[in-house]
Amino acid sequence: MKSIFDKSAIKDLDLKNRLFKGAVWEELAREDGHMTDELFEIYEELAKGGVGAIFTGYAYVCKEEQPNPRMMGIYDDSFIKEYKELTDMVHSHDSKIIMQIVYGGTQSNMGYDDNIIFGPSAIRNEISGIMPKEMTKDDIEYLVNAYANAALRVKKAGFDGVAMHGAHGYLLSQFLCPHYNQRSDEYGGSIENRMRIIVEIYENIREKVGKDYPVFMKINSQDFFNGGLSEEESIKVIKVLEEKGLDCVEISGGNESTKAVLKNNLGPARKIKEQSQESYFKGFAKKLRTEVNIPIILTGGNRSTDLMEELLNEDVVDYFGIARPFIYEPDLANKWAEDKNYKAKCKSCNGCYHTYGKRCVFDK
Ligand SMILES: Cc1cc2nc3c(=O)[nH]c(=O)nc-3n(C[C@H](O)[C@H](O)[C@H](O)COP(=O)(O)O)c2cc1C
Repeated sequence: MKSIFDKSAIKDLDLKNRLFKGAVWEELAREDGHMTDELFEIYEELAKGGVGAIFTGYAYVCKEEQPNPRMMGIYDDSFIKEYKELTDMVHSHDSKIIMQIVYGGTQSNMGYDDNIIFGPSAIRNEISGIMPKEMTKDDIEYLVNAYANAALRVKKAGFDGVAMHGAHGYLLSQFLCPHYNQRSDEYGGSIENRMRIIVEIYENIREKVGKDYPVFMKINSQDFFNGGLSEEESIKVIKVLEEKGLDCVEISGGNESTKAVLKNNLGPARKIKEQSQESYFKGFAKKLRTEVNIPIILTGGNRSTDLMEELLNEDVVDYFGIARPFIYEPDLANKWAEDKNYKAKCKSCNGCYHTYGKRCVFDK
């Protein structure tokens, strides 16, 4: 029988259980993306709390492009020293930490009156209203290098892996999305073309970090709107990346650059009212499992250990990404280790999105 507390490994990355802390933009870095004591403490609480591995909140790879305020940065070498302190601290508590890296694009709260923001095509973002610059091939090369250099810094800072953010409507997800990618060159059109920038970024990251370093990617199972990435296309992307050597895929879903997705509770962080709504991308994971062999992390609405263990024992997934419940209870993994029937307190209400430091609104 498989358990959420099984030990395993992804390459040389030893994991003490099957629980990953899902990435959360804490909004607690300095304005230039550098660490603060407050941010460090959040990771310390998590590392002490028994989780197998932590995905950091997304860190931006280009200095001139910060999709959300007070995100972590990884755009130059000045970050390496402070992140080494972070990774050493996490390792001292027998946990692991992987940095998620991103170029946000038009899915942003920052306004950008003067800065040029890249997009696959000049299509205005439905939510932010930002009109991007359609990327030239030079811009694409610039971004590919920015990602690869950021990944090398991640490795030098002692993180246990690097994760590309290819989900939720940020730039790479927009490339995959027919509505936002209306290019007529080799980066648009067929899914093979729409995934090209991601494949190039992956290959360049791999060249920089070497064949043994764990590389992850978070991707939408589908975009959940007409004109978005479909499940079949998502599977194609994952298969190509698997062939190229991607080590692990994290499944999410919902393109947040789209009103219909937000309005209909179809984004990555859904409101959940009853148990039947938990682990909401499991249907896709079941399909994906029959098509690929790389480890799958299922993220979104994982709340009950019995359902998670059912999915493990049906051989649907390998790992679980859990975000909001760890905001409320950073020591949730330790609580489950003591009592598997312990009920996570998170109400999946999304109140945390609107608090200082992305704390739980009930955490008084
Ligand atoms: C406040 C907040 C910030 C988030 N920031 C990120 C992020 O930086 N990167 C990312 O991939 N997902 C981000 N997410 C989405 C989560 O990683 C996760 O996919 C989603 O919350 C579903 O998992 P859950 O039901 O366990 O919360 C964020 C979610 C919340 C609530």
